[in-house]
Amino acid sequence: MSNNKSDDLLSKVISLCKRRGFVFQSSEIYGGLASCWDYGPLGVDLKNNLARWWWHDMTILNDNIVGLDSSILMHPRVWEASGHLAEFADPMVDCRSCKRRFKADDLVPDIPPEGADWDHKHLEKFPWASLQCPVCGTKGTLTKPRMFHLMFKTHLGPAEDTASTIYLRPETAQGIYVDYQLVMNSARQKVPFGIAQIGKAFRNEITPKNFIFRTVEFEQMEMQFFVKPGTDHEWLETWKQRRMAFYHNLGINPDHVRFHQHAPDELAHYAKDAWDIQYQFPFGWQEFEGIHNRTDFDLKRHAEFSGKDMQYFDEETREHFLPYVIETSAGLNRMMLVVLLDAYWFDAANERVVLRLHPRLAPIKVVICPLVKKDGLPEIARRIEQELRPLWKVQYEQQGAIGRRYYRHDEAGTPYGITVDYDTKEEAEKAGDVMQGTVTLRERDTQDQIRLKIGELRGKLMESLGAQ
Ligand code: GAP
Repeated sequence: MSNNKSDDLLSKVISLCKRRGFVFQSSEIYGGLASCWDYGPLGVDLKNNLARWWWHDMTILNDNIVGLDSSILMHPRVWEASGHLAEFADPMVDCRSCKRRFKADDLVPDIPPEGADWDHKHLEKFPWASLQCPVCGTKGTLTKPRMFHLMFKTHLGPAEDTASTIYLRPETAQGIYVDYQLVMNSARQKVPFGIAQIGKAFRNEITPKNFIFRTVEFEQMEMQFFVKPGTDHEWLETWKQRRMAFYHNLGINPDHVRFHQHAPDELAHYAKDAWDIQYQFPFGWQEFEGIHNRTDFDLKRHAEFSGKDMQYFDEETREHFLPYVIETSAGLNRMMLVVLLDAYWFDAANERVVLRLHPRLAPIKVVICPLVKKDGLPEIARRIEQELRPLWKVQYEQQGAIGRRYYRHDEAGTPYGITVDYDTKEEAEKAGDVMQGTVTLRERDTQDQIRLKIGELRGKLMESLGAQ
Protein backbone atom coordinates (compact mmCIF):
# COMPACT_ATOMS: atom_id res chain seq x y z
CA MET A 1 0.00 0.00 0.00
CA SER A 2 2.95 2.34 0.40
CA ASN A 3 2.76 3.37 -3.25
CA ASN A 4 -0.79 4.57 -2.56
CA LYS A 5 0.38 7.11 -0.04
CA SER A 6 3.09 8.58 -2.20
CA ASP A 7 3.19 12.31 -2.87
CA ASP A 8 1.88 11.99 -6.37
CA LEU A 9 -1.25 10.07 -5.37
CA LEU A 10 -3.26 13.28 -5.59
CA SER A 11 -2.04 14.05 -9.11
CA LYS A 12 -2.79 10.47 -10.19
CA VAL A 13 -6.32 10.74 -8.85
CA ILE A 14 -6.84 14.14 -10.49
CA SER A 15 -5.68 12.79 -13.82
CA LEU A 16 -7.87 9.69 -13.51
CA CYS A 17 -10.83 11.93 -12.65
CA LYS A 18 -10.37 13.97 -15.77
CA ARG A 19 -9.59 11.04 -18.09
CA ARG A 20 -12.54 8.96 -16.98
CA GLY A 21 -15.07 11.72 -16.46
CA PHE A 22 -15.32 11.99 -12.70
CA VAL A 23 -14.34 15.66 -12.33
CA PHE A 24 -13.47 18.38 -14.85
CA GLN A 25 -12.26 21.93 -14.43
CA SER A 26 -15.21 24.31 -14.74
CA SER A 27 -15.35 26.55 -17.84
CA GLU A 28 -12.25 24.85 -19.23
CA ILE A 29 -12.65 26.24 -22.75
CA TYR A 30 -12.24 29.74 -21.24
CA GLY A 31 -9.13 28.76 -19.32
CA GLY A 32 -11.04 27.44 -16.31
CA LEU A 33 -12.40 29.15 -13.22
CA ALA A 34 -10.17 28.64 -10.21
CA SER A 35 -11.61 26.38 -7.54
CA CYS A 36 -14.75 25.49 -9.51
CA TRP A 37 -15.26 21.93 -10.71
CA ASP A 38 -17.80 20.04 -12.78
CA TYR A 39 -18.78 16.46 -12.01
CA GLY A 40 -18.86 14.30 -15.12
CA PRO A 41 -20.93 11.16 -15.73
CA LEU A 42 -18.99 8.89 -13.34
CA GLY A 43 -18.43 11.66 -10.79
CA VAL A 44 -22.04 12.65 -10.48
CA ASP A 45 -23.07 9.04 -9.90
CA LEU A 46 -20.35 8.49 -7.31
CA LYS A 47 -21.34 11.72 -5.53
CA ASN A 48 -25.03 10.83 -5.66
CA ASN A 49 -24.34 7.33 -4.34
CA LEU A 50 -22.43 8.81 -1.41
CA ALA A 51 -25.19 11.32 -0.68
CA ARG A 52 -27.83 8.61 -0.96
CA TRP A 53 -25.97 6.37 1.48
CA TRP A 54 -25.70 9.22 3.99
CA TRP A 55 -29.39 10.10 3.51
CA HIS A 56 -30.36 6.47 3.96
CA ASP A 57 -28.24 6.18 7.11
CA MET A 58 -29.79 9.31 8.59
CA THR A 59 -33.43 9.49 7.50
CA ILE A 60 -34.34 5.88 6.71
CA LEU A 61 -32.52 3.97 9.42
CA ASN A 62 -33.68 6.44 12.12
CA ASP A 63 -37.34 7.24 12.57
CA ASN A 64 -36.42 10.30 14.64
CA ILE A 65 -34.43 11.99 11.85
CA VAL A 66 -36.33 13.78 9.10
CA GLY A 67 -35.24 15.63 5.98
CA LEU A 68 -35.31 19.23 4.85
CA ASP A 69 -34.23 21.14 1.76
CA SER A 70 -34.10 24.79 2.73
CA SER A 71 -33.39 27.72 0.47
CA ILE A 72 -29.80 28.84 -0.25
CA LEU A 73 -30.76 32.49 0.03
CA MET A 74 -32.16 33.49 3.41
CA HIS A 75 -33.24 36.62 5.21
CA PRO A 76 -30.06 38.67 5.85
CA ARG A 77 -30.89 38.88 9.57
CA VAL A 78 -30.17 35.13 9.76
CA TRP A 79 -26.45 35.86 9.30
CA GLU A 80 -26.46 38.59 11.91
CA ALA A 81 -28.09 36.23 14.37
CA SER A 82 -25.81 33.29 13.52
CA GLY A 83 -22.72 35.42 14.09
CA HIS A 84 -21.41 34.86 10.58
CA LEU A 85 -21.64 38.50 9.60
CA ALA A 86 -19.38 39.49 12.48
CA GLU A 87 -17.17 36.42 12.79
CA PHE A 88 -16.83 34.65 9.49
CA ALA A 89 -13.71 36.25 8.09
CA ASP A 90 -10.12 35.26 7.33
CA PRO A 91 -7.04 37.48 7.54
CA MET A 92 -5.25 38.26 4.30
CA VAL A 93 -1.97 39.80 3.33
CA ASP A 94 -1.22 41.49 0.00
CA CYS A 95 2.15 41.90 -1.67
CA ARG A 96 2.46 45.50 -2.86
CA SER A 97 5.06 44.47 -5.40
CA CYS A 98 3.58 41.47 -7.25
CA LYS A 99 -0.06 42.11 -6.18
CA ARG A 100 -0.57 38.53 -4.99
CA ARG A 101 -2.83 37.84 -2.03
CA PHE A 102 -2.13 35.30 0.72
CA LYS A 103 -3.97 33.87 3.67
CA ALA A 104 -1.99 35.04 6.70
CA ASP A 105 -1.94 31.61 8.32
CA ASP A 106 -0.42 30.09 5.19
CA LEU A 107 2.57 32.42 5.65
CA VAL A 108 2.99 31.80 9.38
CA PRO A 109 1.15 28.58 10.14
CA ASP A 110 1.33 28.79 13.94
CA ILE A 111 -0.53 32.09 14.25
CA PRO A 112 -3.18 31.39 15.43
CA PRO A 113 -2.94 27.70 16.45
CA GLU A 114 -4.40 25.30 13.85
CA GLY A 115 -8.16 25.72 13.39
CA ALA A 116 -8.50 28.70 15.79
CA ASP A 117 -10.34 31.85 14.73
CA TRP A 118 -8.32 35.03 14.22
CA ASP A 119 -8.78 37.87 16.60
CA HIS A 120 -7.11 41.16 17.36
CA LYS A 121 -4.24 39.75 19.36
CA HIS A 122 -3.30 37.36 16.55
CA LEU A 123 -3.33 40.22 14.01
CA GLU A 124 -1.02 42.25 16.24
CA LYS A 125 1.42 39.35 16.61
CA PHE A 126 1.73 38.78 12.86
CA PRO A 127 5.30 39.54 11.65
CA TRP A 128 4.28 41.13 8.34
CA ALA A 129 7.10 43.69 8.24
CA SER A 130 9.87 41.10 8.34
CA LEU A 131 8.34 38.62 5.96
CA GLN A 132 9.43 38.00 2.40
CA CYS A 133 6.84 37.59 -0.36
CA PRO A 134 6.76 33.83 -1.15
CA VAL A 135 6.04 34.52 -4.85
CA CYS A 136 8.24 37.44 -5.97
CA GLY A 137 10.73 37.19 -3.11
CA THR A 138 10.70 40.92 -2.35
CA LYS A 139 11.20 41.90 1.28
CA GLY A 140 9.14 44.51 3.11
CA THR A 141 6.33 44.61 0.55
CA LEU A 142 3.70 42.66 2.46
CA THR A 143 0.79 44.54 4.01
CA LYS A 144 -0.57 44.10 7.52
CA PRO A 145 -3.14 41.32 7.61
CA ARG A 146 -6.72 42.52 7.05
CA MET A 147 -9.91 40.56 7.64
CA PHE A 148 -11.56 39.30 4.48
CA HIS A 149 -15.19 38.20 4.61
CA LEU A 150 -15.96 34.66 3.48
CA MET A 151 -19.64 35.11 2.66
CA PHE A 152 -20.58 35.83 -0.94
CA LYS A 153 -22.79 38.88 -1.26
CA THR A 154 -25.44 39.34 -3.87
CA HIS A 155 -28.52 41.51 -4.41
CA LEU A 156 -32.15 40.65 -4.33
CA GLY A 157 -34.28 42.64 -6.73
CA PRO A 158 -33.15 45.18 -9.32
CA ALA A 159 -31.63 47.83 -7.02
CA GLU A 160 -28.05 47.24 -5.91
CA ASP A 161 -28.39 49.17 -2.67
CA THR A 162 -27.49 47.96 0.78
CA ALA A 163 -31.13 47.31 1.64
CA SER A 164 -31.21 44.49 -0.91
CA THR A 165 -27.90 42.85 0.04
CA ILE A 166 -28.27 39.16 0.73
CA TYR A 167 -25.79 36.31 1.11
CA LEU A 168 -25.18 32.86 -0.29
CA ARG A 169 -25.31 30.58 2.75
CA PRO A 170 -21.88 29.53 4.10
CA GLU A 171 -23.41 26.49 5.86
CA THR A 172 -26.73 24.67 5.45
CA ALA A 173 -27.28 24.47 9.23
CA GLN A 174 -29.02 27.82 9.64
CA GLY A 175 -31.90 26.77 7.36
CA ILE A 176 -32.52 23.91 9.79
CA TYR A 177 -32.45 26.09 12.92
CA VAL A 178 -34.91 28.68 11.65
CA ASP A 179 -37.34 25.96 10.49
CA TYR A 180 -36.90 23.58 13.40
CA GLN A 181 -40.34 24.11 14.96
CA LEU A 182 -42.13 23.87 11.60
CA VAL A 183 -40.35 20.60 10.85
CA MET A 184 -40.84 19.18 14.33
CA ASN A 185 -44.55 19.96 14.47
CA SER A 186 -45.37 18.87 10.93
CA ALA A 187 -43.41 15.62 11.29
CA ARG A 188 -44.77 15.06 14.84
CA GLN A 189 -41.30 14.71 16.31
CA LYS A 190 -40.24 15.13 19.92
CA VAL A 191 -36.84 15.93 21.40
CA PRO A 192 -34.51 14.11 20.92
CA PHE A 193 -34.83 14.22 17.15
CA GLY A 194 -32.78 15.30 14.14
CA ILE A 195 -33.13 17.18 10.86
CA ALA A 196 -30.91 16.22 7.93
CA GLN A 197 -30.12 18.31 4.90
CA ILE A 198 -27.92 18.03 1.81
CA GLY A 199 -27.24 21.21 -0.10
CA LYS A 200 -24.83 23.71 -1.53
CA ALA A 201 -22.86 26.14 0.59
CA PHE A 202 -20.54 28.92 -0.56
CA ARG A 203 -17.43 30.44 0.96
CA ASN A 204 -15.20 32.97 -0.70
CA GLU A 205 -12.09 31.11 0.43
CA ILE A 206 -8.89 33.11 -0.06
CA THR A 207 -6.83 30.10 -0.86
CA PRO A 208 -8.95 27.34 -2.33
CA LYS A 209 -6.71 24.36 -2.90
CA ASN A 210 -6.05 20.68 -3.42
CA PHE A 211 -8.53 19.91 -6.16
CA ILE A 212 -12.04 19.43 -4.70
CA PHE A 213 -10.77 19.57 -1.08
CA ARG A 214 -11.35 23.30 -0.57
CA THR A 215 -13.52 25.11 -3.07
CA VAL A 216 -15.71 28.18 -3.01
CA GLU A 217 -18.84 26.24 -3.92
CA PHE A 218 -19.42 22.89 -2.24
CA GLU A 219 -22.08 20.58 -0.87
CA GLN A 220 -22.64 19.87 2.77
CA MET A 221 -24.47 16.97 4.37
CA GLU A 222 -25.51 18.25 7.75
CA MET A 223 -27.64 16.76 10.48
CA GLN A 224 -28.71 18.81 13.47
CA PHE A 225 -29.81 16.71 16.44
CA PHE A 226 -31.97 18.52 19.02
CA VAL A 227 -31.53 17.26 22.58
CA LYS A 228 -32.41 18.14 26.14
CA PRO A 229 -29.68 20.25 27.80
CA GLY A 230 -27.67 18.01 30.09
CA THR A 231 -27.85 15.07 27.68
CA ASP A 232 -25.69 16.87 25.09
CA HIS A 233 -22.38 15.33 26.11
CA GLU A 234 -23.76 11.81 25.84
CA TRP A 235 -25.34 12.51 22.45
CA LEU A 236 -22.10 13.97 21.15
CA GLU A 237 -20.36 10.71 22.04
CA THR A 238 -23.10 8.69 20.34
CA TRP A 239 -22.83 10.70 17.14
CA LYS A 240 -19.05 10.53 17.12
CA GLN A 241 -19.22 6.75 17.21
CA ARG A 242 -21.99 6.54 14.60
CA ARG A 243 -20.20 8.82 12.17
CA MET A 244 -16.92 6.94 12.47
CA ALA A 245 -18.78 3.65 11.91
CA PHE A 246 -20.28 5.17 8.75
CA TYR A 247 -16.79 5.67 7.28
CA HIS A 248 -15.71 2.19 8.24
CA ASN A 249 -18.83 0.85 6.49
CA LEU A 250 -17.96 2.80 3.34
CA GLY A 251 -14.77 0.78 3.27
CA ILE A 252 -12.34 3.57 4.22
CA ASN A 253 -9.17 2.09 5.72
CA PRO A 254 -9.58 2.65 9.51
CA ASP A 255 -5.87 3.55 9.76
CA HIS A 256 -6.48 6.53 7.50
CA VAL A 257 -9.18 8.19 9.63
CA ARG A 258 -9.01 9.58 13.15
CA PHE A 259 -10.68 12.02 15.53
CA HIS A 260 -9.19 15.37 16.39
CA GLN A 261 -10.65 17.36 19.27
CA HIS A 262 -10.55 21.15 18.97
CA ALA A 263 -8.53 22.88 21.66
CA PRO A 264 -10.42 25.71 23.43
CA ASP A 265 -8.80 28.37 21.23
CA GLU A 266 -9.66 26.43 18.05
CA LEU A 267 -13.41 26.31 18.72
CA ALA A 268 -15.76 28.11 16.33
CA HIS A 269 -17.82 30.91 17.84
CA TYR A 270 -20.86 28.63 18.26
CA ALA A 271 -19.23 25.52 19.70
CA LYS A 272 -18.75 24.22 23.24
CA ASP A 273 -17.01 21.06 22.10
CA ALA A 274 -15.93 20.06 18.60
CA TRP A 275 -14.40 16.98 17.03
CA ASP A 276 -13.13 16.64 13.50
CA ILE A 277 -13.02 13.41 11.63
CA GLN A 278 -9.75 13.67 9.77
CA TYR A 279 -8.37 11.72 6.83
CA GLN A 280 -4.73 11.16 6.05
CA PHE A 281 -4.63 13.06 2.76
CA PRO A 282 -1.41 13.08 0.70
CA PHE A 283 -1.03 16.68 1.99
CA GLY A 284 -1.48 15.72 5.66
CA TRP A 285 -4.20 14.93 8.20
CA GLN A 286 -7.18 17.20 7.46
CA GLU A 287 -10.80 17.45 8.51
CA PHE A 288 -13.58 16.20 6.27
CA GLU A 289 -16.39 16.11 8.84
CA GLY A 290 -17.03 18.09 12.01
CA ILE A 291 -19.13 16.97 14.97
CA HIS A 292 -20.06 19.91 17.15
CA ASN A 293 -21.89 20.61 20.35
CA ARG A 294 -23.48 23.96 19.36
CA THR A 295 -25.42 24.18 22.64
CA ASP A 296 -28.46 26.47 22.38
CA PHE A 297 -26.29 29.19 20.80
CA ASP A 298 -28.07 29.33 17.45
CA LEU A 299 -31.64 28.93 18.71
CA LYS A 300 -31.06 31.52 21.41
CA ARG A 301 -29.71 34.01 18.89
CA HIS A 302 -32.56 33.40 16.45
CA ALA A 303 -35.07 33.88 19.27
CA GLU A 304 -33.36 37.14 20.16
CA PHE A 305 -33.10 38.48 16.61
CA SER A 306 -36.52 37.35 15.37
CA GLY A 307 -38.45 38.02 18.58
CA LYS A 308 -40.02 34.55 18.26
CA ASP A 309 -40.19 31.97 21.02
CA MET A 310 -37.90 29.15 19.89
CA GLN A 311 -38.42 27.03 23.01
CA TYR A 312 -39.53 23.44 23.06
CA PHE A 313 -42.38 22.33 25.30
CA ASP A 314 -41.89 18.93 26.86
CA GLU A 315 -45.40 17.52 27.35
CA GLU A 316 -44.29 14.89 29.84
CA THR A 317 -42.38 17.10 32.24
CA ARG A 318 -44.35 20.28 31.39
CA GLU A 319 -41.01 22.08 30.96
CA HIS A 320 -40.11 24.75 28.41
CA PHE A 321 -36.50 24.79 27.25
CA LEU A 322 -34.26 25.65 24.32
CA PRO A 323 -32.86 22.40 22.97
CA TYR A 324 -29.12 21.92 22.62
CA VAL A 325 -27.89 20.97 19.16
CA ILE A 326 -25.40 18.26 18.28
CA GLU A 327 -24.32 18.80 14.70
CA THR A 328 -22.69 16.39 12.28
CA SER A 329 -21.39 18.34 9.29
CA ALA A 330 -19.71 16.60 6.37
CA GLY A 331 -18.51 17.97 3.05
CA LEU A 332 -19.80 15.81 0.22
CA ASN A 333 -17.11 16.80 -2.28
CA ARG A 334 -14.38 16.39 0.29
CA MET A 335 -15.81 13.01 1.26
CA MET A 336 -15.72 12.02 -2.39
CA LEU A 337 -12.03 12.95 -2.52
CA VAL A 338 -11.45 10.77 0.56
CA VAL A 339 -13.24 7.88 -1.11
CA LEU A 340 -11.28 8.27 -4.36
CA LEU A 341 -7.89 8.54 -2.65
CA ASP A 342 -8.60 5.58 -0.42
CA ALA A 343 -9.86 3.43 -3.28
CA TYR A 344 -7.02 4.16 -5.72
CA TRP A 345 -4.81 1.12 -6.07
CA PHE A 346 -2.06 0.30 -8.53
CA ASP A 347 -2.08 -3.47 -8.86
CA ALA A 348 1.58 -3.87 -9.75
CA ALA A 349 1.33 -7.61 -10.37
CA ASN A 350 -1.17 -7.05 -13.14
CA GLU A 351 -0.14 -3.51 -14.12
CA ARG A 352 -3.61 -2.12 -13.75
CA VAL A 353 -5.18 0.76 -11.88
CA VAL A 354 -8.17 -0.24 -9.79
CA LEU A 355 -10.63 1.96 -7.94
CA ARG A 356 -11.58 -0.33 -5.09
CA LEU A 357 -14.85 1.44 -4.42
CA HIS A 358 -17.46 -0.16 -2.22
CA PRO A 359 -19.98 -1.77 -4.65
CA ARG A 360 -22.73 0.50 -3.25
CA LEU A 361 -20.66 3.54 -4.24
CA ALA A 362 -19.47 2.40 -7.66
CA PRO A 363 -20.99 4.52 -10.45
CA ILE A 364 -21.40 1.53 -12.79
CA LYS A 365 -22.20 -1.76 -11.10
CA VAL A 366 -21.77 -4.31 -13.86
CA VAL A 367 -20.12 -4.41 -17.27
CA ILE A 368 -21.66 -6.94 -19.66
CA CYS A 369 -19.43 -8.24 -22.44
CA PRO A 370 -20.00 -10.67 -25.28
CA LEU A 371 -16.67 -12.45 -25.85
CA VAL A 372 -16.89 -11.58 -29.57
CA LYS A 373 -19.27 -9.33 -31.43
CA LYS A 374 -20.76 -12.02 -33.65
CA ASP A 375 -22.36 -15.49 -33.65
CA GLY A 376 -25.33 -14.43 -31.52
CA LEU A 377 -23.28 -13.62 -28.40
CA PRO A 378 -24.17 -9.85 -28.45
CA GLU A 379 -27.89 -10.77 -28.46
CA ILE A 380 -27.50 -12.84 -25.30
CA ALA A 381 -25.46 -10.06 -23.66
CA ARG A 382 -28.15 -7.54 -24.57
CA ARG A 383 -30.74 -9.87 -23.03
CA ILE A 384 -28.74 -9.85 -19.76
CA GLU A 385 -28.50 -6.07 -19.95
CA GLN A 386 -32.31 -5.89 -20.18
CA GLU A 387 -32.60 -8.18 -17.20
CA LEU A 388 -30.29 -6.12 -14.95
CA ARG A 389 -30.79 -2.53 -16.10
CA PRO A 390 -34.01 -1.87 -14.17
CA LEU A 391 -32.13 -2.75 -10.98
CA TRP A 392 -28.66 -1.25 -11.40
CA LYS A 393 -26.58 0.98 -13.61
CA VAL A 394 -24.98 -1.48 -16.02
CA GLN A 395 -22.96 -1.02 -19.19
CA TYR A 396 -22.79 -3.09 -22.34
CA GLU A 397 -19.27 -3.26 -23.88
CA GLN A 398 -18.32 -5.15 -27.01
CA GLN A 399 -15.29 -3.21 -28.30
CA GLY A 400 -11.71 -4.52 -27.93
CA ALA A 401 -10.10 -7.48 -26.18
CA ILE A 402 -11.99 -8.75 -23.16
CA GLY A 403 -9.04 -8.09 -20.79
CA ARG A 404 -8.82 -4.51 -21.95
CA ARG A 405 -12.55 -4.00 -21.45
CA TYR A 406 -12.23 -5.25 -17.90
CA TYR A 407 -9.20 -3.07 -17.11
CA ARG A 408 -11.04 0.01 -18.31
CA HIS A 409 -13.81 -0.78 -15.88
CA ASP A 410 -11.41 -1.61 -13.03
CA GLU A 411 -10.20 1.96 -13.29
CA ALA A 412 -13.78 3.26 -13.15
CA GLY A 413 -14.49 1.15 -10.06
CA THR A 414 -17.02 -1.21 -11.70
CA PRO A 415 -17.19 -4.14 -9.25
CA TYR A 416 -18.50 -6.87 -11.58
CA GLY A 417 -17.98 -8.06 -15.13
CA ILE A 418 -20.08 -10.62 -16.99
CA THR A 419 -18.85 -12.45 -20.08
CA VAL A 420 -21.03 -14.31 -22.53
CA ASP A 421 -19.10 -16.95 -24.48
CA TYR A 422 -19.78 -19.87 -26.82
CA ASP A 423 -20.64 -22.19 -23.93
CA THR A 424 -23.35 -19.76 -22.87
CA LYS A 425 -24.90 -19.94 -26.28
CA GLU A 426 -24.69 -23.72 -26.55
CA GLU A 427 -26.23 -24.27 -23.10
CA ALA A 428 -29.02 -21.79 -23.76
CA GLU A 429 -29.86 -23.40 -27.09
CA LYS A 430 -29.79 -26.89 -25.63
CA ALA A 431 -32.19 -25.92 -22.83
CA GLY A 432 -34.35 -23.80 -25.13
CA ASP A 433 -34.11 -21.08 -22.47
CA VAL A 434 -31.54 -18.30 -22.39
CA MET A 435 -31.76 -18.20 -18.57
CA GLN A 436 -30.18 -21.70 -18.44
CA GLY A 437 -27.00 -20.56 -20.22
CA THR A 438 -24.04 -19.97 -17.91
CA VAL A 439 -21.77 -16.92 -17.96
CA THR A 440 -18.65 -15.89 -16.07
CA LEU A 441 -18.98 -13.34 -13.31
CA ARG A 442 -15.69 -11.58 -12.56
CA GLU A 443 -14.91 -9.70 -9.36
CA ARG A 444 -12.88 -6.51 -9.80
CA ASP A 445 -10.28 -6.65 -6.99
CA THR A 446 -9.40 -10.34 -6.95
CA GLN A 447 -10.22 -10.95 -10.64
CA ASP A 448 -11.76 -14.23 -9.45
CA GLN A 449 -14.34 -15.65 -11.80
CA ILE A 450 -17.25 -17.94 -11.10
CA ARG A 451 -19.63 -19.53 -13.55
CA LEU A 452 -23.37 -19.31 -13.00
CA LYS A 453 -26.64 -19.38 -14.88
CA ILE A 454 -28.02 -16.16 -16.34
CA GLY A 455 -31.17 -16.84 -14.32
CA GLU A 456 -29.10 -16.72 -11.12
CA LEU A 457 -27.37 -13.40 -11.82
CA ARG A 458 -29.94 -11.10 -10.23
CA GLY A 459 -29.97 -12.98 -6.93
CA LYS A 460 -26.19 -13.29 -6.80
CA LEU A 461 -25.59 -9.58 -7.53
CA MET A 462 -28.30 -8.52 -5.08
CA GLU A 463 -26.21 -10.05 -2.26
CA SER A 464 -23.54 -7.41 -2.62
CA LEU A 465 -25.16 -4.55 -4.53
CA GLY A 466 -28.48 -4.49 -2.70
CA ALA A 467 -31.43 -2.63 -4.13
CA GLN A 468 -30.57 0.82 -5.49
N1 GAP B 1 -22.16 23.82 10.00
C1 GAP B 1 -20.85 23.63 10.48
C2 GAP B 1 -19.84 23.80 9.46
O1 GAP B 1 -20.11 24.28 8.38
P1 GAP B 1 -17.29 23.43 8.96
O2 GAP B 1 -16.27 22.67 9.75
O3 GAP B 1 -16.98 24.84 8.60
O4 GAP B 1 -18.62 23.34 9.83
C3 GAP B 1 -18.06 21.30 7.70
O5 GAP B 1 -17.62 22.64 7.64
C4 GAP B 1 -17.51 20.49 6.54
O6 GAP B 1 -17.83 21.14 5.30
C5 GAP B 1 -15.99 20.36 6.52
O7 GAP B 1 -15.57 19.29 7.32
C6 GAP B 1 -15.71 20.10 5.06
O8 GAP B 1 -15.89 18.74 4.75
C7 GAP B 1 -16.80 20.91 4.37
N2 GAP B 1 -16.23 22.19 3.91
C8 GAP B 1 -16.10 23.34 4.59
N3 GAP B 1 -15.54 24.30 3.83
C9 GAP B 1 -15.30 23.74 2.63
C10 GAP B 1 -14.74 24.21 1.40
N4 GAP B 1 -14.33 25.46 1.26
N5 GAP B 1 -14.65 23.34 0.35
C11 GAP B 1 -15.10 22.07 0.48
N6 GAP B 1 -15.62 21.58 1.60
C12 GAP B 1 -15.74 22.39 2.66
